[in-house]
Amino acid sequence: MEKLKIAIQKKGRLSEKSLELFKDCGIKFSTGISSLKTESSNFPVELLFLRDDDIPQYVEKSVADIGILGENEVLEKNKNVKSIRKLGFASCRLSLAIPKEEEYTGITYFNNKKVATSYPHILEEYFKNNNINAELEEIGGSVEIAPSIGLADGICDLVSSGSTLLTNGLKEVEVVLKSQAVMIANPNLSEEKQEILEKLIFRLEAKKKSNEHKYIILNAPNDKLEDIIKVIPGMRSPSVFPLADGKWSSFHSVVKEDTFWEVIDELKEKGAEGILVLPIEKMIY
Ligand code: PRP
Ligand code: ZN
Repeated sequence: MEKLKIAIQKKGRLSEKSLELFKDCGIKFSTGISSLKTESSNFPVELLFLRDDDIPQYVEKSVADIGILGENEVLEKNKNVKSIRKLGFASCRLSLAIPKEEEYTGITYFNNKKVATSYPHILEEYFKNNNINAELEEIGGSVEIAPSIGLADGICDLVSSGSTLLTNGLKEVEVVLKSQAVMIANPNLSEEKQEILEKLIFRLEAKKKSNEHKYIILNAPNDKLEDIIKVIPGMRSPSVFPLADGKWSSFHSVVKEDTFWEVIDELKEKGAEGILVLPIEKMIY
């Protein structure tokens, strides 16, 4: 049977969360055998540990079938790969930054300035769209030190917490793009591999839905039953169990995380008591 080869970042911001993703899907890996790749014992996938910058190229060339990496790298490398979905972690932005003592006058500040970056294609496009004539200095890493060593006037790099900029005496002045972890795939997967990918996505979706919902249990007087059902319709309809005290019932249902507090307030108003809210491990419907 074929295995789906998945490239993930070897070491960096995305590594841990990428591995967690598979754990959440119940996919197990034997550890410590090789630092380059590892196979799952219970799902037809193989993980390849690579530099994130190289992942678009490897996926295009079918060295890996799918990859997990920052959107920023996908856009910069512009390879023939398919974006499958955003994964909701490793959020960051690609920003322009300058020494903090400099006065920033707006985007035209960058006219005739030198900017160091590992994202020359994205930045070139950005400057072009804003009619800025700047000189780009492409470097592979440690971009944040470029102004202090006299290599450039400013930088364009990823910002997450902002601490790298802060410790290097820089301030963020423009956001070029927002990014997060995404899954990409080779556009010509075999049918068998496509099926494995679909199974994997099904599991990811179940986990995502479970994160977006809460299980809720509450007690309410029977005469409030209809009012309460209107507030929490549940997936199909809530389950209602009689309590030993014949005048009260226990309601079980599922509510969306984003409307959660409004729902709770309304339930309390309608006479609900003893409200319990539980996390959901997986959700399939
Ligand atoms: C990025 C960027 C900064 C750091 C910013 O590197 O190059 O060094 O993160 O994060 P902060 O705002 O929280 O300090 P990344 O870990 O993505 O490594 P890479 O670009 O070399 O892959
Ligand atoms: Zn990188």
